[in-house]
Amino acid sequence: MGSIAIMCSGGDSSGMNPAIKKFVEYALDKNLTPYFIFDGLEGLIDGDIRKADYKDVTGIIHLGGTMIRTSRSKRFYEFSNREIAYRNLQKNSIDKLIVLGGDGSFKAMDIFSKEFNISFIGIPSTIDNNINGTDYCLGVDTALNVIRTALDEIRDTALSFKRAFVVETMGADCGYLALISALTSGAEICIIPEIRYDLEALQKKISEEMKEGRTNILAVVAEGTNDTDKIKEWIERDLKLEVRELILGHIQRGGSPSVYDRLMAFEFISYAIDRLMQDSVNEIIVYRDAKFEFLEVNEVVKDRHRINDKLLDLVVRLSK
Ligand code: F6P
Repeated sequence: MGSIAIMCSGGDSSGMNPAIKKFVEYALDKNLTPYFIFDGLEGLIDGDIRKADYKDVTGIIHLGGTMIRTSRSKRFYEFSNREIAYRNLQKNSIDKLIVLGGDGSFKAMDIFSKEFNISFIGIPSTIDNNINGTDYCLGVDTALNVIRTALDEIRDTALSFKRAFVVETMGADCGYLALISALTSGAEICIIPEIRYDLEALQKKISEEMKEGRTNILAVVAEGTNDTDKIKEWIERDLKLEVRELILGHIQRGGSPSVYDRLMAFEFISYAIDRLMQDSVNEIIVYRDAKFEFLEVNEVVKDRHRINDKLLDLVVRLSK
């Protein structure tokens, strides 16, 4: 029935390993020969493509990251390198590709698949949850749980002193991780790029609460605002609380995939393989309104992702 390959591109996310496991098992069930492309687009250019089997994917389902590694490739922007990449696929008779990544990777794959007639499905995989057209990206639930654990633990120590903590979450230009984390950890302040914050109003509100006995504050700030230090200084200066700042950083990308991410990985992969077996396509599989659908790459990458208004409304009171 032919050969099919999988690779990861861009930032890793938890759920990639369960997806890779399902990929091998489901492809073999469908009489396809599964291949791994190591190191993302870099490995595609360098020809690091290896046939995969059941035994390669035992003992990986509970692991974060990706066993086939990933990369952010600049070389793939050059046509000559894409040509080499295509020849590498041809050598292994691969004409179907699954790419776990974000919209930068999907744009690159769209160009590639049109140039060389390679059938491709992109699976939105990024902790940022910032891909237009899908409500969910693989790895988000695990990242949120990592952040939740950190914030719950920080609250323990914040409660033990009269202190404020300013915690910066990842998410690139998107405030989704900060928003959900602030809501579910009971933070007092949430600063995200999507909402214009008002420090004067916040100061008034929190000062009142402090008069009533509030002793500690948790402020969650999205990295995309670039305002973590500013918020720290403001709390020290205007709320007169001792502050500690914590940049959660790359721990948010690690950790054992949650049950939800494992199940989503299975679903994304099986739908993607079924689709690639039906037709020659270059599409992204999205999950929206609780259904899996396929969209043209352009439909996904043409717009920036927007957090839905209902969620934004929930967090406005933590920003002003
Ligand atoms: O896109 C995922 C992400 O973790 C972002 O949240 C973050 O801004 C970026 O990747 C970090 O990239 P790197 O791993 O290259 O430092």
